[in-house]
Order: sequence, then structure tokens, then C-alpha cells
Amino acid sequence: MTQEFVAAGKAGELAPGAMKRVDLRGRRILLANVAGRYCAVDDTCTHEEASLATGVLKGELVKCPLHGSRFNVCTGEALEEPAEENLKTYPVRLEGGRILVGLDDKGTP
Ligand code: FES
Repeated sequence: MTQEFVAAGKAGELAPGAMKRVDLRGRRILLANVAGRYCAVDDTCTHEEASLATGVLKGELVKCPLHGSRFNVCTGEALEEPAEENLKTYPVRLEGGRILVGLDDKGTP
């Protein structure tokens, strides 16, 4: 399995406590800045088709805007029903002030 790091924005553009959706190679990814640490997971809730980027981020936890399930944006763990499945996580690297997200070939449609 090969992994490629793809630019997802500039580090300064995402303040601590902020998150945004980025579309990388056909995948919708939620990128969050948790107190200076960048975390990336799938943006689509594992329960139904909701964009978690439109939910609320508190610490490491994002709350789904549709039915309120919470997920850890750094581990992908689903913490509350109705969602039961964890989110896929992606490695994040900082390089020259850019945020890079690692996509494996499975993540490329
Ligand atoms: S769509 Fe996210 S909890 Fe239902």
C-alpha cells in the first residue's frame, strides 16, 4: 500500500479550535486544529450523510450536526450513538508551513 502526502492548506489558516472540510483526491476530509495539533478524519459521519465540518468542535470531539453523535477527531473513535462505526483517520504532517495529509491508495477512488 502506498501513501502520498497531499497539501491541505497552510498551517496559519486553521487556528487552534478550528476545523474545516478539505476535498483531497475525491475524499472529503475533516481537518481540525486541536490546541496546535492537526488531526484528519473522514468528514462524512458514519451514521448518515452529514458533513461533520458543519458540526461543533470542542477539544478533540466533533459533534455531528444531524443526530449529535460525537467522534474523536484524532483517533476517529465514535463515542456516542447513533453512529457506531469509527471514522477513518489520516496521518498529518507539517512541512514548510503547509499541512499535508497522508492518503493511501485505498483512499483514492
Ligand atoms: S448523521 Fe451523524 S449522527 Fe446521524
